[in-house]
Amino acid sequence: MKTRTPISIYILVTVGLTIMAFEMFAHDSGYFSSAFFWGLMLIVIILLLIMNSIGDLIENQNFSKLSDEEKVQYLKEKNTPYFQKLWNSAFKKQSVTEEKDILIDHGFDGITELDNSLPKWWLGLFYFGFIFCAVYMVAFAFTDYAHPEAELTAETKTMLASIAEFEKNAPQINLETAKYSADNIAEGQELFKTNCVTCHGDGGKGGIGPNLTDRHWINHKEKSLFKNVFWMLENGSPNNPTMRPFIKEGTITGKDAEKIAAYVYHINQETAPITQAKGGAAPQGQEVEWENGNN
Ligand code: HEC
Repeated sequence: MKTRTPISIYILVTVGLTIMAFEMFAHDSGYFSSAFFWGLMLIVIILLLIMNSIGDLIENQNFSKLSDEEKVQYLKEKNTPYFQKLWNSAFKKQSVTEEKDILIDHGFDGITELDNSLPKWWLGLFYFGFIFCAVYMVAFAFTDYAHPEAELTAETKTMLASIAEFEKNAPQINLETAKYSADNIAEGQELFKTNCVTCHGDGGKGGIGPNLTDRHWINHKEKSLFKNVFWMLENGSPNNPTMRPFIKEGTITGKDAEKIAAYVYHINQETAPITQAKGGAAPQGQEVEWENGNN
């Protein structure tokens, strides 16, 4: 009479397989926090426990029919822990008589072959792989499971939603709160290329709009250069509507303006001016001494 697999193993395997199935067919349904999932788990576990009790009854029945010697043997085996048994079965060696029984009737030069049955763990893995493969193919064919594009779209959606949420709650950057940061220069440069280069030229050398790399300024609204640029982006030029109030009209956000202003500060104060000799536009306005460093 064979010993039975412990109920704990059945429960573990069943719970594992159920989670696997949910992961494949309904992974973004938030099943882990749904009452349905836990209800299902509860029912499954109760069924397994009932099955186990029936198994106990049958076991007792069969046990009483065994001879005394068989009973001792059975109890000894039953008391060996499950994993110990698996381990033993994986490394089991046959006795000489057992070997005779499974010897295959061919050989050469004294080399013979035994018809061993496959170890349990190996068979288990094989069947698991087989079933997994079939379930995987069905899940792949009929659901979004394991489709990278679908996953990407879903993740992008959540990401954009969380960015929008963040933007909504994040403090808006305005003339008072805007701060210079060297970390913004690179992003500011990109934003400058898309929004400003058409008029202010490559690197701010000037064109339709004034040269932003020299010391001359038409508009002097704030004490510091950084804030002055931000002011221009918010209000546009009071004398020339070509320079539009980008922030007020909603073309750029305060956050982008903070980055662009950092870039303009950088090309004006931290790099050599693009003079007329180097292809820059002629200075316009008055020469300005800015105060307050980059604040
Ligand atoms: C459609 C053309 C145009 C675009 C696009 C433009 N500007 Fe201007 N900008 C001008 C003109 C023209 C002036 C001169 C305004 C004046 O005479 O007061 C100016 C002035 C300025 C000034 C003040 C310069 C000074 O000497 O007073 C700054 C700073 C400035 N622009 C930054 C920007 C930035 C940053 C962007 C990109 C977000 C931008 N501009 C986009 C045309 C433009």
